[in-house]
Amino acid sequence: MERLAIANRLYAAEGTLRYIRFVDDFPSVAYNSAWMDIGGVQSRSDPKVYVVQTATEAVKRCLLMTTDPGDLVFDPTCCSGTTAFVAEQWGWRWITCDTSRVALTLARQRLMTAVFDYYELSRPPHEGVKYRVSVHGFDYYNTKTGVVESGGGDKIAVWLLDTDYDGRSLYPRQVFFPMVSDKEGWARLAKNLKAEIDEELIEAYRGTVSLPFEPGPHKRIAVKIVDDRGIESLKVLEVE
Ligand SMILES: C[S@@+](CC[C@H](N)C(=O)[O-])C[C@H]1O[C@@H](n2cnc3c(N)ncnc32)[C@H](O)[C@@H]1O
Repeated sequence: MERLAIANRLYAAEGTLRYIRFVDDFPSVAYNSAWMDIGGVQSRSDPKVYVVQTATEAVKRCLLMTTDPGDLVFDPTCCSGTTAFVAEQWGWRWITCDTSRVALTLARQRLMTAVFDYYELSRPPHEGVKYRVSVHGFDYYNTKTGVVESGGGDKIAVWLLDTDYDGRSLYPRQVFFPMVSDKEGWARLAKNLKAEIDEELIEAYRGTVSLPFEPGPHKRIAVKIVDDRGIESLKVLEVE
């Protein structure tokens, strides 16, 4: 320490004392493959959605190193959806899953409220007959008690609407989080984007009534409801 002080190498950092090193202090440095520049596998700078969330920078680097634009990436341990988030941001396709319903719900909300760059639509929308879906609640068969239980809109954590259900996989074109308070999720997004987003539409994404939509060529819609226990139910409806 004294020698460092004499050499004028000491400086005060925030709450601690550090010392200055110069490149030529070390004639050679062993080459290694450690990624010291990504701020750790568990980033301290990313907004923490889930406790075991991997840093976006680490996932981004892996993805860009090992895949090509438009590739399909699969993360079987979704957690809060970092892989899907990064893939979406870079225009990759993605599939993800997890055993934890909590993780999936958090990932869903993270992805649906994420802000990405604008992309031009390949087809301009055209006007036709519009529908709205109103969700009043759900029925759930409790396998433990053998009783059908019902819940109202206030017990719906998230509901998803596919306005053109193909009968196989639900493609959520509208997603709603009725239980999210006005300080979270869509409302936070609205605040961050300010003038770029219609506050009334943002408010609608906390509700139980969909935005107006025109059914697609399948003439069939699907509504998936995830309740506050993470239990999912699906309702499919034919439309004109
Ligand atoms: C360390 S996190 C994964 C990090 C994530 N891949 C990322 O990029 O942020 C571990 C996740 O794996 C999930 N998990 C644990 N065992 C699993 C299994 N057998 N199948 C699928 N997911 C599992 C946990 O619920 C948890 O969300």
